[in-house]
Amino acid sequence: MVCLGNICRSPLAEGIMLKLIKDHDLKITVDSAGTSNYHIGEAPDKRTVENARKHAIDLSNLRARQFNEKDFDAFDRIFVMDKSNLKNVLALAKNNANKEKVDLLLNSLHPGKNLEVPDPYFGGEQGFEDAFGMVYKACAVIALKQSI
Ligand code: 4NP
Repeated sequence: MVCLGNICRSPLAEGIMLKLIKDHDLKITVDSAGTSNYHIGEAPDKRTVENARKHAIDLSNLRARQFNEKDFDAFDRIFVMDKSNLKNVLALAKNNANKEKVDLLLNSLHPGKNLEVPDPYFGGEQGFEDAFGMVYKACAVIALKQSI
């Protein structure tokens, strides 16, 4: 799960997937990262943590890291939140096989529509709630596909 800072959208996606993996005993792993180095080592944004907590998702143990090209070897799928993240991740791909692993997260929910999870960082509380709804639904589809 990849966004820009790894403090709002992608840790949320990681935390939601961790909960779904635990609740449904799924045999998959998840991690998250940011394309930027802005917040390396930091906990998720307090507004994200608080919003997720309201939905019974705990993000407090997550810490930001930067996406790097080794992630293409470590993971089968790389989900990005917006088209800017997509461009930045694809720029690090070494080959077509790497590129084929990458997709916008919301394409799991709305295939082929290329919709983005808007960055809530500079906005108000509603942006975090909207991000939660979108990310949760997309993660539920990914989890469902893994369970059947
Ligand atoms: P994220 O949100 O990419 O969802 O973690 C952002 C976090 C920090 C910044 C931008 C977006 N920033 O500019 O510091």
